[in-house]
Amino acid sequence: MAVQRLDKLIASTGRWSRREVKALVREGRVLVDGRPAARPEDKADPAVSVILVDGQDLGYRAHTYVMLHKPAGLLTATEDARQKTVMDLLSPELRRQGLSPAGRLDKDTEGLLLLTNDGELAHRLLSPRQHVEKLYYARLDRPLAEADVEAFARGLTLEDGFVCMPASLKLLGDGTEVLIGIREGKFHQIKRMTASQGAAVLYLKRLAMGPLRLDESLAPGQYRLLTPEEVSEIGGTL
Ligand code: URA
Repeated sequence: MAVQRLDKLIASTGRWSRREVKALVREGRVLVDGRPAARPEDKADPAVSVILVDGQDLGYRAHTYVMLHKPAGLLTATEDARQKTVMDLLSPELRRQGLSPAGRLDKDTEGLLLLTNDGELAHRLLSPRQHVEKLYYARLDRPLAEADVEAFARGLTLEDGFVCMPASLKLLGDGTEVLIGIREGKFHQIKRMTASQGAAVLYLKRLAMGPLRLDESLAPGQYRLLTPEEVSEIGGTL
């Protein structure tokens, strides 16, 4: 971890604004290795120094990773002038941490959404070259069949001519419920894939991204931080 300005480092926790951090330092409430910090511009390395605010450990994290069970009806965006976004579900403290959604779910899609300020990791999870599988559950207006399983595996050609990477299709029950695994994330990809086989999506939910599975104890709209194990499984750094 690198040496950083104390005010930036403390404000990155999202618990205080930059202005509040400056006041904390001025009032002698910030201790670095047991000594009151002299100026907000002083530098410290959070991996090396013990930083206390009002006697409490700062709880600094290099990155924050939030698992959200996205409900239908919200935009996957950091802000929007007219509509509610997934960011509106988060606490003010988390909202101040510069999180962005790693990948987009349509407004009517539910399920696993990772929000993080680790841009490198988000890029790695989403890049088709990294082959990270995104797994979806879909309910369709008509059943898919074994022939579709083969077509998905070969690589579908969508209506606009886009050729998909090979994808997995698992039929559940009569084939109106399916699991689909894709390694890319084009606009409306799952809906366009099933449409190319003559079936419309009635309900869509993302269940997993690579090793990260949606925690089913989270109701739609609820979220939690990833556990250290989950962070390490997806290659993040706390
Ligand atoms: N594919 C879709 O069509 N919609 C989503 O939200 C995600 C994948």
